[in-house]
Amino acid sequence: ELGPFSHFMQKEIHEQPKALADTIEPILTHRFKAELFGANAEEVFSNIDSVQIIACGTSFYAGSVARYWIESIAGIPCNVDIASEYRYRDVAANPRQLIVTISQSGETLDTMEALKYAKSYGCEQTLSICNVRESAIPRASKLVFYTRAGAEIGVASTKAFTTQLIALFALTGVLAKLRGRLNDEKEAEYLDSLRHLPGSVQHALNLEPQIQRWANKFAGKEHALFLGRGVHYPIALEGALKLKEISYIHAEAYPAGELKHGPLALVDSNMPVVVISPNDNLLEKVKSNIQEVRARGGEIFAFADLDSHFGESDIVHVIRTPRHVGVLSPVVHTIPVQLLAYHAALARGTDVDKPRNLAKSVTVE
Ligand code: M6R
Repeated sequence: ELGPFSHFMQKEIHEQPKALADTIEPILTHRFKAELFGANAEEVFSNIDSVQIIACGTSFYAGSVARYWIESIAGIPCNVDIASEYRYRDVAANPRQLIVTISQSGETLDTMEALKYAKSYGCEQTLSICNVRESAIPRASKLVFYTRAGAEIGVASTKAFTTQLIALFALTGVLAKLRGRLNDEKEAEYLDSLRHLPGSVQHALNLEPQIQRWANKFAGKEHALFLGRGVHYPIALEGALKLKEISYIHAEAYPAGELKHGPLALVDSNMPVVVISPNDNLLEKVKSNIQEVRARGGEIFAFADLDSHFGESDIVHVIRTPRHVGVLSPVVHTIPVQLLAYHAALARGTDVDKPRNLAKSVTVE
C-alpha cells in the first residue's frame, strides 16, 4: 500500500501533483463558474457582502492564505477565525456574510459547532470545503466543494492542505468574476497558472534530497523559527506546525516584519531560521529581515524562487524552488516545509504517521 515510500505522510506529500490535478480538473472545465460550488451557488454568492472563514489547525492556515486572495482579487472583506475561538465569542451577526468552513475530515467538532453557532446568528449562506464526501460539516452546509485529495491517512495534513488552497482559489475566482473584477484575460491567466501548478509542485518535490540534508541539521535542534510575509506568512505557520507536530521540535512562525517587535531576541547561532522567500513584491522586505537575523548570528535556511537574486553565505543557506508561479506561489512553497518536517522527524525517529497525543480527526472538544 505504501509502494516505494516509508510512511503515509511521505506518500501523501508525493501524491500532491495528482491530488492537485484532480481538484483542478473541474475548474479547468467550468472555468470560474459559481456552479463549481453547487446548483444555487450563484444566487448565494451574489447576495453576500463579506466572507467569514472558520477552521482548525492546518485548515485554518489554508483559510488564512485565502483571506489575502479574497481581499486582493475579489475585493471582498474576509475574516478568518479558529473554530474553537469563534464559537465562544459574541460575534457581530451579519446574515449577508458567507460562512466558509474548511475541514479535511468534515467531522471536526469545533468546526461543526462553530457552523451551527453562525447559523444561530442567522447566517444561512454556508459553504463547506471538505475532503470526505457526505461527512457531517458538508451535510450541514448549503454549498459544498469537495477537494479530490483522496484518503489522507497520516495525521499530519499535507495533500488536504494544498487541495484546500485550490478550492479557496476557485472561490476567489468565482467571487471576483461575479463582481466584475475578473476579465477574460485575467481568467485565462489564472486557469493557465492552475494548469501548470502540478508540474511546479513536482519540481519542488524533486528537491527532497537537498531538503533532507537540511533536515538532518534540524534534527539536533530543539527550536526553530519560521518567517514569511504576506500570503506566505500562513505557509510559515504551516511549516512550524508540521515541524512541531511530527518531529516535536519547538517551532514558531512570525510575519517577518514582526521580528523587531520581540522574536529577534530569540535569535542566536543556535536558532535555525527558515525563511519563505518567494520572488514577489515583498522579496526586498524579506531580504532586509534576513539581514536582521544574520546580524545576530542566526543561521538562515531560505526557500527562494529560481528567478530571484538571492545571496548565499556561510550562514545563509538557500534551496531554489521553481520559478515564481505568481498568485499560486503559496501552494509551491508548502512542499519544501512539508518535506523539511518529514525528514527532520525521520532523523529523530518519531512516529511520523501517528505523532504522540494526536488523532487524525478531532471529534471531541
Ligand atoms: O479535518 P480537519 O481539517 O477539520 O482537521 C483540522 C485539524 O485538526 C488538522 O488540520 C490538524 O491541525 C492536522 N493534524 C495538522 O497537520
